[in-house]
Amino acid sequence: MISLQSITKSFGKFQALAGVDLEVPAGTVQGLLGPNGAGKTTTVRVLTTLLEPDGGDAFIAGHSVRTEGDAARRSLGVSGQYAAVDDKLTGLENLTLVGQLYGMRRKAAKARAHELLEHFRLDGVPKGQRAGSYSGGMRRRLDLAGALVARPPVVILDEPTTGLDPRGRRDTWDAISALADDGTAVLLTTQYLEEADELADSIAVIDGGRIVAEGTPATLKAQAGGARLDMSFERPGTVPAARAALSSIGLEVSADDSALRLSATAPGRQESLRAALAALREAEIEVIEASLRQPTLDDVFLQITQKPAGVRSGQDSAEDPAVSPTEAPAEDPVPDNAAAREEVRS
Ligand SMILES: Nc1ncnc2c1ncn2[C@@H]1O[C@H](COP(=O)(O)OP(=O)(O)O)[C@@H](O)[C@H]1O
Ligand SMILES: [Mg+2]
Repeated sequence: MISLQSITKSFGKFQALAGVDLEVPAGTVQGLLGPNGAGKTTTVRVLTTLLEPDGGDAFIAGHSVRTEGDAARRSLGVSGQYAAVDDKLTGLENLTLVGQLYGMRRKAAKARAHELLEHFRLDGVPKGQRAGSYSGGMRRRLDLAGALVARPPVVILDEPTTGLDPRGRRDTWDAISALADDGTAVLLTTQYLEEADELADSIAVIDGGRIVAEGTPATLKAQAGGARLDMSFERPGTVPAARAALSSIGLEVSADDSALRLSATAPGRQESLRAALAALREAEIEVIEASLRQPTLDDVFLQITQKPAGVRSGQDSAEDPAVSPTEAPAEDPVPDNAAAREEVRS
C-alpha cells in the first residue's frame, strides 16, 4: 500500500535521506522511529508529495508520488506534527470541509464529522466554539480526525502524539489501532519507543537518513539479547571496576564510565543477578540498587547507534506542544517500566 524505493533527498550539501526503502502492507502499522533530525518528516513530506525526492520513487496505493501526485494524494490521509486546523471554523465545520474536499456529499461529510468528533471526545465542546480556542491537545485530536474523514486506504501520521497528555495519547493509539484493523496501511513516525512498541506491527529505526534496523518489536528486542540487569552505585568512579568484575563472569556491560549506573546483559536472569552481586562483593564494590528487566527498544537503539539516542520513552508528555519542552535530556534513555521490573535491593 505504501512503498518507498531508494528515496534520497539532500538540502544543499546536507543529505537528509540517504536511500530509504520501506514497504507498508494494508492493515498494518509501520513505525518509523528515530531521534530528532533523523529524516522522519522529510520522508513524510516526500510521501505526501510536498517534497520531490532527488532519487528513487514512492508509491501510495500504487500511484507514484513523482508522476501521479493527484492520485497519490487522493488515497492519502495525513496528520502533521503541527496541527493544520482552520482556527476560524468550528470542529464540525473543519471536518465537514475536509470531507467535501475529498469529494464527499455535504450530508455524508457532516455525518462522518459527527462520528469522529464523538470518537475523539470533541463532541462536548459548546456549539459554535471555534477551533482557535481549543487546547493544544484538542487541536491535535481534531487534526488527526481530519486525516480519517474520507477513510483513505493510506494514513500517514507524523508524530501524532508528541505533546499530548496520557489520555490524549491513549485515545490516539486506540484510533490508530482501529484504523489498521479496518485494513488501512498506516505509517507512523515517532520519537517514542513506547509508542512504536505498543502500536507498530513492524518498526524501522531511522538515523541520519538511513534505515538502520527493521523488524517486529519482538525481533528487535531479541536482538538486544534477552534480560538486562541495571545497577546503580553511590560513589562516582565505580563503573570501571564494576565493568571489570562483571566482564570477568561473562556479562556485557554498557555504561558511561563517569555515570553512577550501568546496564549489563543477564542471560541467566536470577542466576546472572546472583553471580553479579557475588562478583561485586568479591571486588568490594558497593551496589545501592540492582534490578532485572526485559530488554526495551532503548537497548536496541543504544546497541545499533552506539549512543544513547535523543529517542525518548514518552514519559515527559504535556498537553500543549507549543508550551511544553519536547526536547527531553538524553541522559536517562531507559524507561522506568515498573511492570517489567523485578526490583532487588542488596
Ligand atoms: N527544508 C530544509 N532545508 C534544510 N535542511 C532541512 C530541511 N528540512 C529538513 N532539513 C534537515 O534534514 C534533517 C532531517 O530533518 P527531518 O526530516 O525534519 O527530521 P525528523 O522529522 O526526523 O526530526 C535535519 O537535519 C533537518 O535539519
Ligand atoms: Mg519531524
